[in-house]
Amino acid sequence: MTDELIDRARNRAENAYAPFSKFRVGAVVVAADGTTYEGANVENSAFGSAMCAEATAIGNAVSNGIRKIDTVAVACIDADEPGYPCGNCRQLMVEFGVERILIDGPEGVVEYNLDDLIPHGFRLQSDR
Ligand code: THU
Repeated sequence: MTDELIDRARNRAENAYAPFSKFRVGAVVVAADGTTYEGANVENSAFGSAMCAEATAIGNAVSNGIRKIDTVAVACIDADEPGYPCGNCRQLMVEFGVERILIDGPEGVVEYNLDDLIPHGFRLQSDR
């Protein structure tokens, strides 16, 4: 399962639009209902408008009605070390209750939970 998800993330990264950074990232989301959604990073000439792979995959899931995500698998195919999700993507993961993050790296896949990556992530008081 882990290897299959990482393979899919790597394949998806091939579709990244990253002409500026040359840093291609792919992500696969596994929702609580077992359905999966993929995404790649999408850059823009206005650099600040870039979208991360994790964000596009999560956005894809959420726009298909998903509200609970179990796993996010990430692969940066141009990196020579594990590509950890940025802060914004970690906060997106908090919103949808991600339990497991799989990150591809040269020495194999590393696995984290959200508390490892974003302890005390922001939640509105009304969510508690
Ligand atoms: N990027 C991701 O796709 N995910 C992250 O968590 C961090 C960064 C992308 C955004 C941009 O297209 C490129 O990597 C370089 O920052």
